[in-house]
Amino acid sequence: MATEVQGTEAVMDEGEGVRRRDFINIAAVSFAGVGGLAVLYPLVTQMSPSADVLAQATTEVDLSAIQPGQAIKTVFRSQPLFVRQLTEKEIAEADAVDASSLRDPQTLEERTIEGKKQWLVTMGVCTHLGCVPLGAGEGENKGEYGGYFCPCHGSHYDTAARIRKGPAPKNLVVPEYQFTSDTAILVG
Ligand code: FES
Repeated sequence: MATEVQGTEAVMDEGEGVRRRDFINIAAVSFAGVGGLAVLYPLVTQMSPSADVLAQATTEVDLSAIQPGQAIKTVFRSQPLFVRQLTEKEIAEADAVDASSLRDPQTLEERTIEGKKQWLVTMGVCTHLGCVPLGAGEGENKGEYGGYFCPCHGSHYDTAARIRKGPAPKNLVVPEYQFTSDTAILVG
């Protein structure tokens, strides 16, 4: 009897063993599927530009069509960029301000390239919470100081894009750029 019982247990063990093996096989197949995805993912991510490459990207801007008093909106490193040619009056207004009295003290000279004071190049990103200010587009509200106006919470920037009123803590950021000719700049 004891032998029969053992034999029955042996059969049951074998049956369970088979089921367990099936499970292990199914699990292995599933893992192979996941493994395939895991291999694919790095390949896809390698094909996208890395953060380093994006960070080093430059943008060339043609200035020839921008008349005094006009500005354009373009894109630099996936963010809005404003390029503006100031009029004599706008330059005079910016220069008339005592920079030391400003929230973020900077002169127009410090925010432009020497000898090219009429070209104001700034990021189009409000330094409060990152909205895109108005003032670069034709007919847009330039705010109380004639520069840019952020409608999100009412920040006013002057003709040198310096913060003059409202919650923004800093002037619009001037990115690194250089003139590649009299009518073109390379930003970045
Ligand atoms: S994001 Fe511009 S004022 Fe708040």
